[in-house]
Amino acid sequence: MDNKELINILSDNTLSWITPQLEKAFPEELSEDITVKAAMYSVMAGGKRIRPMMMYMTSRMLSLDEAKHDITARFALALELIHTYSLIHDDLPAMDNDDLRRGKPTCHKAFGEGIAVLAGDALMNRAYEILFGIVEEHPEYAFAASNMARLAGIKGMIGGQSIDIASTDKLISLEKLYELQEKKTGALIECAVTTPYYLAGSAADDTAQKLIKLASCLGLMFQIKDDILDVTSSAEVMGKNTGKDERDDKSTFVTLLGLEGAGEKLKEEYDSAVRLCNELKTNGLDTSDYIALCDYLYSRDR
Ligand code: IPE
Ligand code: IPE
Ligand code: MG
Ligand code: MG
Ligand code: MG
Repeated sequence: MDNKELINILSDNTLSWITPQLEKAFPEELSEDITVKAAMYSVMAGGKRIRPMMMYMTSRMLSLDEAKHDITARFALALELIHTYSLIHDDLPAMDNDDLRRGKPTCHKAFGEGIAVLAGDALMNRAYEILFGIVEEHPEYAFAASNMARLAGIKGMIGGQSIDIASTDKLISLEKLYELQEKKTGALIECAVTTPYYLAGSAADDTAQKLIKLASCLGLMFQIKDDILDVTSSAEVMGKNTGKDERDDKSTFVTLLGLEGAGEKLKEEYDSAVRLCNELKTNGLDTSDYIALCDYLYSRDR
């Protein structure tokens, strides 16, 4: 099996694992509420589910038992809800002002701005309710839950969005750009890659540190590629409008370094990621799925 076939299988497995969770993200009795409808419109619009797939992959790599694999699915649900809320808010007129997401009109285009703000809020709060629910049953997973909260917040994704908005229309240093990208995209990806490891073992050991480094490379690859595709791809393929970074005078790897320079940075992160996968092999982990993921992130076209 080549790496492309492997990724297709992992993606299909992830969808069967996570879709039933996503479908019942909110209790049935709330399904007529307009904010819940708007939230579910965005959640079920599609999306690559790359973060749940990383959680699935780490769980598989560690051969987590069925109980832990099921808990991982609940963490994956919480993370995908947080990610979806971040997209709803990212698309609002006050932020990136976009009208297409996951191949459909953005949440605020379909439901109005007020409801879209609330839909994002509802998804965030539901995610924390899910995390507290896990911790009530399993206090030993408190670190994994609080770590997700940290990575989604001002030290992570929100912190990155904050730099992104504050640096719009400004020239920022490459160092600042790395910080922006590592936070706005890398933080949730770190959470996805490492959470199943925290269910199984220590957050402080050498393997955990290597996994965090691997996640950082994958996060950078993901966002550099997002910046490149914003210039080279189309709305039909991406399910979101392209050309928007230049339109909005955003600081990205492409606006700072040009397409070629961004491609070089992507390759650098790819090489580091593959090297880390090989190092993790010497720690006894079968990283073949992650090596396939490196190839996918390097060459993805949507
Ligand atoms: C889009 O994320 C926002 C970025 C961090 C680049 P994804 O590309 O994972 O979006 P979906 O979930 O597939 O829609
Ligand atoms: C958004 O980054 C990342 C988030 C935390 C939502 P972008 O603004 O580049 O994402 P797209 O291109 O709109 O998906
Ligand atoms: Mg943005
Ligand atoms: Mg955006
Ligand atoms: Mg983008």
